[in-house]
Amino acid sequence: MIIQPRTRGFICLTAHPDGALQAVKNQIEYVKSKGKIKNGPKKVLVIGASTGFGLSSRIAAAFGSDAATIGVFFEKPASEGKMGTAGWYNSAAFEKEAHAAGLYAKSINGDAFSDDIKKQTIDLIKKDLGQVDLVVYSLASPRRTHPKTGVAYASVLKPIGQPFTNKTVDFHTGVVSDITINPVENDEDIANTIAVMGGEDWKFWIEDLKAAGVLAAGVKTVAYSYIGPELTFPIYRNGTIGQAKNDLEATVPVLNELLKDLHGVSYVSVNKALVTQSSSAIPVVPLYISLLYKVMKAKGTHEGTIEQMQRLFADRLYTENGEVALDSEGRIRIDDWEMAEDVQAEVAKYWDKVTTETLAEISDIDGYRKEFFNLFGFELEGVDYEKDTDENVKVPSIG
Ligand code: NAI
Ligand code: NA
Repeated sequence: MIIQPRTRGFICLTAHPDGALQAVKNQIEYVKSKGKIKNGPKKVLVIGASTGFGLSSRIAAAFGSDAATIGVFFEKPASEGKMGTAGWYNSAAFEKEAHAAGLYAKSINGDAFSDDIKKQTIDLIKKDLGQVDLVVYSLASPRRTHPKTGVAYASVLKPIGQPFTNKTVDFHTGVVSDITINPVENDEDIANTIAVMGGEDWKFWIEDLKAAGVLAAGVKTVAYSYIGPELTFPIYRNGTIGQAKNDLEATVPVLNELLKDLHGVSYVSVNKALVTQSSSAIPVVPLYISLLYKVMKAKGTHEGTIEQMQRLFADRLYTENGEVALDSEGRIRIDDWEMAEDVQAEVAKYWDKVTTETLAEISDIDGYRKEFFNLFGFELEGVDYEKDTDENVKVPSIG
């Protein structure tokens, strides 16, 4: 079929398999251009492997370090004339390219929060890899069913305490307007958000993997967090999602204790703000990202998810002397270029000036929009969108 983008708000309802393949190939080329990661990971489990930072982690491990990878994600193949999701096509593309390069790559599609998917993953590791030496935890989800209690939690994106008013952009129309987001009405919203995006599920994974004996000596595990500038604090770091990130970060010492006898270690990496399916759902943040992109591109310090993950592996997690640089709170910082003083000062200056009228000139809204469509396999150079494409492509290991 001929596939066109079809959007509803910050969601794109369609995805393009050929475009996904091109996007994955572009990421692979970037990783290869940086050369091999010395002492990199060899057997890697990526939880949340189909889009965003997780997909790029998988690509960096496979093509930067010749790693065998197992990817876990929650995506849909095409069915009855409906196309599959972007993450499905990304994973089909990744496996195709990995297999062509002689790399082991298998995937598991299902709810990573469930005990069943954890068990399936453990069985696959046992059967094919024996053990893994890196576990990347990169889930982003609006809801989680607790595997022990069956309680279904929904996260919310809200400030805590006071209403928050700031500028936001509709990146389709380019209209900048004020938005007021009311604070949570009760502590339950905070607790629910922590239950979905906090550290408990990461801990459950590591506990189960360890109990099954599938973690190698010296294993590393990493999960992703965000801090960002003060202007987004009310909706992000000091909001409900920030409380979940605090909980995720507080899980690090718990996992370090658990992994001690394996000489294993856990990390949270604070990543840069980037266009992904998850970040486009947060008010205010897309406008910040479009200003940030403009400033960082002008300075030559702009990175996408693949540049971030390649740098995380090569310069942080797998350094030549084995040392991992951490901030005063014990976190890896690859948001360092985003948070550089000169970058933030310029973004703040533009933030005050940005209106519907000035948006095109002072922000990289076009770059934002393009990257958003790229996430779904659209607007990639070298893809013929007029050509009939097979929406029924399979993820080879899933079928
Ligand atoms: P994303 O939406 O691109 O990726 C989410 C992944 O989780 C996908 O592979 C999806 O299939 C998987 N997933 C979701 N629910 C699942 C379930 N129930 N079972 C199995 N898989 C499931 O998100 P993104 O942005 O890459 O986020 C990953 C992590 O990075 C999150 O912790 C996020 O907070 C963090 N982060 C994101 C930043 C951003 O600007 N996008 C910045 C810094 C950190
Ligand atoms: Na991800």
